[in-house]
Amino acid sequence: MISQKGSTVVFQPEGRRAVVNRGVTLLEAARKAGVTIATRCGGKAGCLMCKVTIDPEQAEGVRPPSEAERRKLGSGIGQGQRLACQAAVWGDVTVNVPEDPFKAAVRRKLEAARRGEEDELW
Ligand code: FES
Repeated sequence: MISQKGSTVVFQPEGRRAVVNRGVTLLEAARKAGVTIATRCGGKAGCLMCKVTIDPEQAEGVRPPSEAERRKLGSGIGQGQRLACQAAVWGDVTVNVPEDPFKAAVRRKLEAARRGEEDELW
């Protein structure tokens, strides 16, 4: 849905949200929402570190990918992948942000320790 007052972008799994104007990139919206999305290329579609996914039912919430973004993501486009630095908000949308690999490793270690499967954390 497109709103005159801005579009609501929800970032999962944290559920943080930002209201932004149409045309703002998902990366900019994430920063406004306080969500960290890794980047190395400064938002120039060079590093592919900012991949996020969008459910197909929400695809109208972002502008269609450019030819450059399609080339970079290949078949990932069909699976809902987008580059947060390239995808522009076009309506309300929910974005799935993959967990940072380091945070995921720490989380798994902590969960294993809580279950008593590991005596030491490291
Ligand atoms: S920030 Fe590098 S590809 Fe998006």
